[in-house]
Amino acid sequence: MSAPPKNPESAGVGAPTRARIAERTLRTDRWWLAPLLTVLGLSVFVVYASVRSWVRTAYFVEDYHYLTPFYSPCLSDSCVPGSSDFGTPIGELPMIIPLGFLVLPFLLGFRLTCYYYRKAYYRSVWFSPPACAVAEPHRTYTGETRLPLIVQNAHRYFFYVALVVSLINTYDAIRAFHGADGGFGIGLGTLIMVCNVILLWAYTVSCHSCRHVTGGRLTHFSKHPIRYRLWTWVSTLNTRHMQLAWTTLATLIVTDFYVMLVASGTISDLRLIN
Ligand code: FES
Repeated sequence: MSAPPKNPESAGVGAPTRARIAERTLRTDRWWLAPLLTVLGLSVFVVYASVRSWVRTAYFVEDYHYLTPFYSPCLSDSCVPGSSDFGTPIGELPMIIPLGFLVLPFLLGFRLTCYYYRKAYYRSVWFSPPACAVAEPHRTYTGETRLPLIVQNAHRYFFYVALVVSLINTYDAIRAFHGADGGFGIGLGTLIMVCNVILLWAYTVSCHSCRHVTGGRLTHFSKHPIRYRLWTWVSTLNTRHMQLAWTTLATLIVTDFYVMLVASGTISDLRLIN
């Protein structure tokens, strides 16, 4: 967390030691392409997830027990029969509230405060700065020490909730090994859900907070060999955190889209067993 400079006007590109350059940047390459693609990718996900979360249609395939992650856990009386394995402690919900409302704020909170996504949208949405060697348009910088950005420090708490959500998604993937006759079965939907949950775990475990949980505040790794081993694994995964962040956005959409197609009767599930 960076503290704001005492005199913001003299910081950043205005600092006395910086060269006085009138142009916003001297770069001649397509430096704007990466921030543009980032903002497009994030917008596609936000729009898709929002629409799907509110429509309340085609989110559950009863025959094979496919439940889209955007509606899991489904805890309301408004959920379609069979989709509420964890009960319905919440009564009917008005249409304005998504059925996955218990999990959506935490999922969004986890992603929005993620160190990688922060970098991505600070650059692509807030232009702070948009690219290396490109001056940002803002004259002041207040850092993450006051509202609203101080909320970013809640990321470590969202991490624990994300672990619970990953467990629920794992349960859903196991339930998807379900045949039409009620016994064991595997379909393309099962494989998609399993793939999605494995990648979600990889994204969650590669979190910087997880790295701190496993190896932080230790003076001597040699005295904590198990935590050191865990920290080493998490650190290896952590180097792929950006790729996992994007891949899991894609797998969430693919999983939901496939469940939607099967649940709406647009396609039949490709069955491998039963
Ligand atoms: Fe990205 Fe924690 S840093 S999920």
